[in-house]
Amino acid sequence: MIEMSLAEIADVVDGVAHGEAVVTGGAFVDTRTPEPGGLFVAVAGERVDGHDFAREAREAGAAAVLGSRPTEVPTVVVDDVVRALGVLARHVVDRLPDTLVLAMTGSQGKTGTKDYLAHVLGESGETVATRGNFNNEIGVPLTALRATPDTRYLVVEMGARGIGHVAHLCAIAPPTIGAVLNVGTAHIGEFGSREAIAQAKGELVAALPADGTAVLNADDPLVAAMAGRTSATVVTFGHDEAASVAVTDVTSDDLGRLSFELVHRGAGATVHLAQIGAHQWRNAAAAAAMALTAGLDLDAVADSLGDALSASRWRMELAERPDGLVVINDAYNANPESMEAALETLAGIGSRSGRRTLAVLGEMFELGPGSPAAHSRVGAYAAAAGVDVLVTVGAAADAMATAYEQAADAAGTGGSAVRTAGREAAEEWVRHNVSAADVVLVKASRGAALEVIADVLLTEEGSSST
Ligand SMILES: Nc1ncnc2c1ncn2[C@@H]1O[C@H](COP(=O)(O)OP(=O)(O)OP(=O)(O)O)[C@@H](O)[C@H]1O
Ligand SMILES: [Mg+2]
Repeated sequence: MIEMSLAEIADVVDGVAHGEAVVTGGAFVDTRTPEPGGLFVAVAGERVDGHDFAREAREAGAAAVLGSRPTEVPTVVVDDVVRALGVLARHVVDRLPDTLVLAMTGSQGKTGTKDYLAHVLGESGETVATRGNFNNEIGVPLTALRATPDTRYLVVEMGARGIGHVAHLCAIAPPTIGAVLNVGTAHIGEFGSREAIAQAKGELVAALPADGTAVLNADDPLVAAMAGRTSATVVTFGHDEAASVAVTDVTSDDLGRLSFELVHRGAGATVHLAQIGAHQWRNAAAAAAMALTAGLDLDAVADSLGDALSASRWRMELAERPDGLVVINDAYNANPESMEAALETLAGIGSRSGRRTLAVLGEMFELGPGSPAAHSRVGAYAAAAGVDVLVTVGAAADAMATAYEQAADAAGTGGSAVRTAGREAAEEWVRHNVSAADVVLVKASRGAALEVIADVLLTEEGSSST
């Protein structure tokens, strides 16, 4: 944020100032995560009305409120709070000419790419980046408003659920370097077709200035074709040999960590990633192409990518206990697709490293009437993937164990299932039954909070009975 009086803010957003204050910090919508000296944005939701939290926001450090009616705290009153937030953010970005704005969109990998890029750029200059997944019409202005005159790089993740969304976000935080990662089928229900998704993601490219750079995935035809939608310079990344930033020789270690060669302008550098997952090279390559466009040096980019750890906790977070036990903590959340992907990763590590594989899985919430069937499918999938031991947590997850046993019996793979009544029982079981030569996946919906089990595993070295 740049320092602004309430009257100045009112002027910019076409609102009315009630009271006097000087805002020196960023904006926030949640009083549990305040910005000191900042602007509390009172959004009226379906269940809670932000205006009711004005005093709490003030006590948490807010200098003032942006709302649709006066509060007991100095407030700028506007008709449309979200719109005003965007207008204010744009005003601030325009007053930070030395801040380079970089944005990315795509169907998958936005947050992963954003986290790599923020890590790499952070080693070269002060960087403000989207926190977590704050990539919509509220999250983007909140991100932009954290920038100050000291900010060298502003990294903005942009999401889209429909045509015009990305264009709107680009009007709030206009990027100079903009990357489109891929065009998949996420939110296809809202969009209608993949072509419509391509149209929407391409709005980022169309918004770039002539002296900007579009960073495009050379391996995705719908993305590569976006080159025609801009007069900006085009830089590409991918396996394609002709890509400006080309990736060759991708290999994986036993635990699923990739290494590859990054080739740029005839020079090469080797990258060893610390995060697991077959898709990681794509996100790292996109971040590399953006960082190189921003002027960073190839070797520095390659080194920095290698020491980037997962910025978002409990998402396929790989840890090795000193005695050798490997734990994959993916307790952040779960749905049928991500369960299957995680089980596949677990099985891959097992087959490459010869380790026994254990999956400690809890319930997937919010699946409606199809829930038991969905749990059964995950159990059967675990058996088919060759997971050695399935430990289910909580009664609703029992269906996984049953399906696992049936599938394992039918296939004669000899796996075993363990049903535990809840998290404490599961903790007790893993304490006594996991050994240094194992690899353990821990995953469930957020409400199950199974990260505790991963913590127990990583801190209880030597307590196992095997
Ligand atoms: N480049 C990629 N290609 C394919 N799948 C990917 C890629 N990157 C990540 N994924 C998968 O998508 C999941 C979500 O990744 P990430 O959070 O980075 O995506 P996102 O685009 O930010 O999603 P959201 O729309 O929720 O913001 C990952 O857990 C992984 O399974
Ligand atoms: Mg995201």
